[in-house]
Amino acid sequence: MTAARITVNGNEAPIAPAAPHTTALDFLRERGLTGTKEGCAEGECGACSVLVARPGTDKPTDWVAVNACLVPVAALDSQEIVTSEGLATAGAAGTPGTLHPVQEEMAVRGGSQCGYCTPGFVCSMAAEYYRPGRCAHQEPADSTDPEHGPNGFDLHALSGNLCRCTGYRPIRDAAFAVGTPTADDPLARRRELSPPEPAATAYSQDGSVFLRRSTLAETLRVLRERPEAVVVAGSTDWGVEVNIRSRRADCVIAVDRLPELRELRVGSDSVEIGAALTLTEIERRLDGRVPLLAELFPLFASRLIRNSATLGGNLGTGSPIGDSPPALLALDASVVLADADGEREVPLSDYFTGYRQSVRRPGELIRAVRVPLPLSPVTAFHKIAKRRFDDISSVAVAFALDVEDGIVRKARIGLGGVAATPIRALSTEAALEGRPWTAETVEAAAPVLRAEGTPMDDHRASAAYRSAMLGQSLLKLYARTTEAVS
Ligand code: FES
Ligand code: FES
Repeated sequence: MTAARITVNGNEAPIAPAAPHTTALDFLRERGLTGTKEGCAEGECGACSVLVARPGTDKPTDWVAVNACLVPVAALDSQEIVTSEGLATAGAAGTPGTLHPVQEEMAVRGGSQCGYCTPGFVCSMAAEYYRPGRCAHQEPADSTDPEHGPNGFDLHALSGNLCRCTGYRPIRDAAFAVGTPTADDPLARRRELSPPEPAATAYSQDGSVFLRRSTLAETLRVLRERPEAVVVAGSTDWGVEVNIRSRRADCVIAVDRLPELRELRVGSDSVEIGAALTLTEIERRLDGRVPLLAELFPLFASRLIRNSATLGGNLGTGSPIGDSPPALLALDASVVLADADGEREVPLSDYFTGYRQSVRRPGELIRAVRVPLPLSPVTAFHKIAKRRFDDISSVAVAFALDVEDGIVRKARIGLGGVAATPIRALSTEAALEGRPWTAETVEAAAPVLRAEGTPMDDHRASAAYRSAMLGQSLLKLYARTTEAVS
C-alpha cells in the first residue's frame, strides 16, 4: 500500500498530514486553493463544489461535481479532482490565463456579484457542460420547459448551488449560453482515458484510521474485526455528523468503490441495484425502467448530493424521513445483507425495527436492493416539503397499484415521516385491494390513510397537517390516474 495521494488540478500531492476525518474542502483550502468555499458545511449550498473523475457512462471517465465539504480527503486517495482554479488555463508568466467557457459565460452575463458562490457554481456548471448526452439534446428551446436550455443544459445540475446576491436569472443565462467542449479541451480529452482506480487505503493519523479494501470479502473481514467502524459510501450523512456535530470515529471504512456493491442487474424476475451505486448512476442506468424511482430521484436532494449518495446509505442510516424507503416499500423491495459468513435477503418491510434501527447486525453490510418484477403499473411518489427541490420531507408517500378490469388487485403504499420508521400503510392497502378503483373507494380509503402511523408535531409540520397530506395524497393519485386506467 503506497502513501495516500491525490491529484488536484493535474498536480499530485500527499494527503498527509491531514487527519482521516479532514474534508476535501479543508484540505484544498489549507493548500491555498481558496476558490473552493465553505458556506454551510452540510451539503446545502454548493459553495464547495469540485469535479471528481469517476467511471463514465458513454466514455471511460465522467467529470462529476460533488460537495467537497462532505467527502473526507482520505476517500479520494489516488483520485483526480479539479477545482475552480483548475478550470481556467494558466497563462504564461506575466500574462493573463484563459477562462473556462463556463467561467467566461458567468462573467460576461453578470452571473457573479460578491463571488462567494461562483466557484461552486462554475464547477457544477462545468460538470453539466461535460455531461454525456447533453449536446445530443441540443435542439430549439422548448418554451414550455424552463428547466432545460437550448444547449441541452439541465438546470437541475445547479439545484445544489445557492446564490445570495446575484439572483438566478443571469446564472441561468450563462448556463443556457455555454457551447460544447472543443476537441482540444483538456477535460474533454481526459474523459477518453480510464478513471483512476480506487486505491486500497489504510490512512491513519493520531490513532484513527480511514480504510478502503479492494473487495467485498476483504471489507467484510475487516468489518468483522471492527464492527464498531463507521461504514461510508458517499459520506453525505457522515460528513454532516463530522462537520456539524463534531463526531469522530476511530475507524471509517469506505465501500463506495467495491465492485460487488456497484452492479445493476435487470433480470426476468427482479432488478438488483448495488448498494454503492450513486443515485445519479442508478437514475441514468435505469433510464426510466422503474418509473417510481424515476419520479423519486429528482426530489431526492440536489444533483450534487445525488452524485454521491447511495441507496445503501439511505437505508443504512435508518432515518424515518429518508426519501427512498417509502418508494422501495411500495415496490416490495428487499435488502441483500452480507457478512463474512454469507448473505441473507430481508424484505424491506421487515428491515426497520425502531428509530434509526434495523435488523442489520454488527459486521453486516447492505450489498444490494432487490426490486421484484413485474412492476405494478400505477405508481406515484409524493413528497410534501417546504421547498419543491432540495429539502427534507415532512411527509413522503409512494404508491404502487395493480388495477385490472377496474379493480385494485394489489396495493402497496410506503410512508415516510409519520412514524419512528418508514412504514407500509397496511390498513389503507387492505381498504383498496379487491375494490373498484373509483371515487367512492378512494374517498372511503382516504380517512384510513389519514389515520396511518403516529405523526408528530415538529418545526417542519404539525401532526394534523401530516395526516391531512396523507389523505390528500390518495385523492391526488386517483385524480391523476383515473384517465390512465379507465
Ligand atoms: Fe455548503 Fe459544502 S459548504 S455544500
Ligand atoms: Fe454573491 Fe452568489 S454572487 S452569493
